[in-house]
Amino acid sequence: MPRHSLSTRFTLILSGVFLVGIALSGVIYWNTLQNRAQDEITSQGLLLIETMNAVRGYTTQHVRPLLADQLDTNPEFVSETVPAFSARTVFQNFRDQLDYSTYFYKEAALNPTNPLDKADDFEADMLSKLASGEATGEMSGYRELDGQRLFYIARPLTIGSDSCLQCHSTPDEAPASLIATYGDQGGFGWELGQIIAVQVIYVPAGEVFNAALKNFTLVMAVFIVTFALVILLINYLLKRYVIQPVYVLSGLADKISADENFSSELESSELQVITDRPDELGSLAQVFRKMATDVYERTGMLKNQVSQLIIKIDEMRRKQQVSEVVDSDFFSDLQKRAKEFRDRDKGKNG
Ligand code: HEC
Repeated sequence: MPRHSLSTRFTLILSGVFLVGIALSGVIYWNTLQNRAQDEITSQGLLLIETMNAVRGYTTQHVRPLLADQLDTNPEFVSETVPAFSARTVFQNFRDQLDYSTYFYKEAALNPTNPLDKADDFEADMLSKLASGEATGEMSGYRELDGQRLFYIARPLTIGSDSCLQCHSTPDEAPASLIATYGDQGGFGWELGQIIAVQVIYVPAGEVFNAALKNFTLVMAVFIVTFALVILLINYLLKRYVIQPVYVLSGLADKISADENFSSELESSELQVITDRPDELGSLAQVFRKMATDVYERTGMLKNQVSQLIIKIDEMRRKQQVSEVVDSDFFSDLQKRAKEFRDRDKGKNG
């Protein structure tokens, strides 16, 4: 076997291409998915904020008029009249559903009625950007809060109607029960049309990550399996259509070079199958077989000629040996003496 067989090399090269491809497309795909997950969560967050605004509107239009009287007469403040209260309560109910338990809603103000709504530095920054006009409308992005990375979706909240000012203009105008509960410090001095808070939805960044990861894993798994199958298939096809035929041809070439008898290989069905192929290897095998047949015939002819030559040489050698004997001095001497004997005998008898 060669040090790096063709199929190993193909597998290595393809795997390399595959790895680079998967890394590149993985990065691109991951970013796309992350962006898409962000977009999805952003639109989800905006929808939630809109829903909260609808709840706020419902409280202002339908609940507060019914309970307005109680605000003045009841010593205890009626929270149900407050849009912010209904929004927070509805969101809490919403959160209790498992899927949204990690979501968090805040109406962050610089000067809140409820100290819990006090904007932190990050939210204050958003508010000042809104106030200066540097930012308008929706905002979203990531931030750290208590060591946790969060994705936020935010929208400005404006004093949109006079009804708000009943409780948020001056402590004097506000219901006594409100002052009794919340004091006269926060949530006053607001004006119509003023941006007084940002509505923020917080989602753990892991939520965005997980949403992206779920899709990513699935698509990448399909991608990897497909590629692995392609590599296996190419390997199989390579072995079957290229390497195996080359093996047959190189086996034949080995026999030719070792001067073994290869006439049976020339007739073998294995070679026949290859020469019958309509592709490049098929024509290579045809040329190869023709060449091998020629080599076989020529070798046969040569061997024949050589053996005839050997016979001739043997014959000549024998003749030469005979003539050497015949031509030698000893032989001619012997002939001469034999003649003398014969002559003498003739004289005696004759
Ligand atoms: C009946 C009195 C009342 C009215 C009317 C009222 N609010 Fe409030 N608002 C409150 C109270 C009380 C809170 C604090 C609720 C809590 O979180 O406990 C509050 C909270 C808020 C908050 C959250 C920040 C904070 O101050 O704690 C915003 C923002 C807000 N109100 C805006 C509005 C807007 C806009 C309107 C008009 C659509 C409005 N409010 C109408 C009483 C009122």
